[in-house]
Amino acid sequence: MSKSILITGGAGFIGSHVVQLFVEKYPSYKIVNLDALTYAGNLENLKAVENASNYYFEKVDIQDALELEKVFEKHAITDVIHLAAESHVDRSISDPLAFVKTNVFGTVNLLNAAKKAWEGELDQHLFYHVSTDEVYGSLHDGGYFVETTPYDPQSPYSASKAASDHFVRAYANTYKMKTVVSNCSNNYGPNHFPEKLIPLCINNIKNMKPLPVYGKGENVRDWLFVKDHARAIDTVFHQGKSGETYNIGGFNEWKNIDIVRLLCKKMDEKLGREEGTSEKLITFVKDRAGHDLRYAIDSSKIKNELGWEPSLQFDEGIDITIDWYLANEEWLDHVTSGAYQDYYQQHYH
Ligand code: NAD
Ligand code: DAU
Repeated sequence: MSKSILITGGAGFIGSHVVQLFVEKYPSYKIVNLDALTYAGNLENLKAVENASNYYFEKVDIQDALELEKVFEKHAITDVIHLAAESHVDRSISDPLAFVKTNVFGTVNLLNAAKKAWEGELDQHLFYHVSTDEVYGSLHDGGYFVETTPYDPQSPYSASKAASDHFVRAYANTYKMKTVVSNCSNNYGPNHFPEKLIPLCINNIKNMKPLPVYGKGENVRDWLFVKDHARAIDTVFHQGKSGETYNIGGFNEWKNIDIVRLLCKKMDEKLGREEGTSEKLITFVKDRAGHDLRYAIDSSKIKNELGWEPSLQFDEGIDITIDWYLANEEWLDHVTSGAYQDYYQQHYH
């Protein structure tokens, strides 16, 4: 049977790379991108595929159950890859309910729509839920997150993602829905909205604006190039075992302050600035409330069982990323105008 795959959140950062990969790699699949186009959704991310004959876009909010049902029917959806979410931890601290509405309520709506559409043949369709390593909590004493690490979410964002993961597994157990969940570490790369650390710093270095580092910059994240995550999602979608969880990560841990210094160094070179110019922009600011100290993913399972591993070294990925932002000024100007300025003022001043 030919597939008609519903990809939610396809206008966002990771979703746009997943949509592009699937549209280009699988011309026989119908790819339906469903996205509400919140502040984080941007159809400019999909220019490369917008005219492809196997690509469709539906502007729908996953909180709207009726509209979801219509999309399943209209496109005879056979499988789901669910990425739509509120994704920024800082915003979850100031507005937790928005995260419950989209990440929890929206995910359950989507599960219900899939369950209704696939009634009687739930074992023949896949509901793939894309989640985060943040559900495992914060590592303080070394070690890594593995698939069996108990959930211990610490922010409203990670609590909402953990709840959505639980619902997906509950639907697998209760209704025998075919599901798979993957939990990934921090992504970076093109199309990343500049509220997140790496694109925010690239944009601020470019504009000679302060680089806000929370606390002492000692927090550690494990960074993965976004196209490697998209490749992992392709692998899990096609080869993952029903009911399983796969951790995805780069084995690439960095302290925030070291990343910011690296960006400063590379951008001084690329912009022809005197060495040390951008580092002077580093400004230590009030720490994020409840700031998780360290995330580190053990992605041995997906490597050993499905043969996926990251393809890019961090140094190479960061160069590609900076070069993309410098070459795509218009994209950056569009996403940082209007509402972004209000968010920035409110959050950083
Ligand atoms: P993003 O914020 O860049 O994009 C989210 C997309 O979802 C946007 O296009 C937005 O318009 C859409 N959306 C939001 N609310 C919606 C709603 N109610 N209905 C329909 N669409 C809606 O997010 P991202 O960074 O690309 O993350 C995608 C997914 O991957 C999320 O589920 C996130 O939890 C997960 N994830 C992200 C990372 C990361 O480092 N960015 C790492 C691991 C997992
Ligand atoms: O681990 C996966 C998660 O990674 C995803 O689930 C989230 O959707 C994604 O946003 C990301 O969460 P983080 O909170 O780790 O990403 P962020 O870019 O917001 O922050 C990275 C680190 O940098 C974190 O320790 C906080 C710090 N930081 C962030 C910002 C925005 C700063 O020091 N200054 C900043 O201005």
